[in-house]
Amino acid sequence: MSIYLNNAATTWPKPQCVPDAIYDFIANRGANVARGSASVRDIQSLDNVFTCRQKLAELFGGYQKCDPRFITLTSNITESINMIIKGFLKPGMRALTSSMEHNSVLRPLRRAECEGVALDIIQCSLKGYLDPALLKKNLSVRTDIAIINHCSNVSGSLQNIHDIAEVCRASNVPLVVDCAQTAGIIGISAQDLGAAAICFTGHKGLFGPQGTGGIVWDPEFAKRCSPLFEGGTGSLSHEEFQPSQMPDKFEAGTPNLPGIAGLLASVEWIENEGIGKIKEHEDRLGKMLEEGLMKINGLRIIGPGSDDPRLPVYSINIKGMDNAKLARDLSDIYGIETRPGLHCAPLAHRTLGTFPEGALRISPGYFNTADDIDRTLSALIELAKN
Ligand SMILES: Cc1ncc(COP(=O)(O)O)c(C=O)c1O
Repeated sequence: MSIYLNNAATTWPKPQCVPDAIYDFIANRGANVARGSASVRDIQSLDNVFTCRQKLAELFGGYQKCDPRFITLTSNITESINMIIKGFLKPGMRALTSSMEHNSVLRPLRRAECEGVALDIIQCSLKGYLDPALLKKNLSVRTDIAIINHCSNVSGSLQNIHDIAEVCRASNVPLVVDCAQTAGIIGISAQDLGAAAICFTGHKGLFGPQGTGGIVWDPEFAKRCSPLFEGGTGSLSHEEFQPSQMPDKFEAGTPNLPGIAGLLASVEWIENEGIGKIKEHEDRLGKMLEEGLMKINGLRIIGPGSDDPRLPVYSINIKGMDNAKLARDLSDIYGIETRPGLHCAPLAHRTLGTFPEGALRISPGYFNTADDIDRTLSALIELAKN
């Protein structure tokens, strides 16, 4: 039996209700959304999308606080982030980000820079943390937007997002948070943070299918962004311009309806299981892994120390060993799935001192057991010895 320890890339397995809901949508329901004759199937499809939006609004802000119309459903967080960067930034503006960002933030920002946007990348510490005081200093120059990662997909470093948000609020700078690694694991409220937008992907901590994601908007900030895509919305069909009403403004074209059915099932599953219970189990496995890793000769854990705020995403290097070879051996000999390399985050690796060689990432998830961690540690001990 293989051991899957690559949950930072995508969680696996998914709760059984997720593939069941996708199958049921395609096999038994399958109507388009807001593009039918109001048959029972049409209404069910609409209800699916509406309920998913509502559940996400509850998860990211409390139903009373976060209006479901201000949840935009996208294909992944990369699309969400691009939607904001390309829909908001104009030549002459200034954007700020951190040195721990994923390429989904960095690449569109570099593109914007080529088109006349000033870009400021704040250096994080060797452990992968952004110092709110340093952020404050950098915000003294007029800044139009700050885009910051909540938790690193390389080192698991968890930013002090409340202090970061406070600094941005005090400077009147819209804050966009990349919650790819934390959505579904750490409760975060867009409204309480005072964030301009929170971006999430559906297939990691939300346990949904690939091809799902979204944005939680502050209504005022949503007004300041132009849509990235324009087209059919199933609404206001007499108008030749994209509607400005939400959620239609940012959702042109037929959405990933089977994916949304799966995402709704996973969010309901999280609700029943409890975010706290999921996090507690993952943290327990993470601690167990960390304690074992610290005892292996020649092994270095990248980034946070044992008392630093983090999620159980561990990147390691073993002295004298190539990360790709290590991942290959773990997989071929022991059936253990991890991820070597630069993890789509070259700047984060530079910050952590692991560029260009990268690291081997081990990321346990909710469906792993203590036995999985024991077997992984034994395998690493054997490989490190050889
Ligand atoms: C921090 C972070 N941001 C963005 C992404 C991009 O996610 P997606 O490929 O789902 O768009 C990832 C995926 O690994 C991530 O970890």
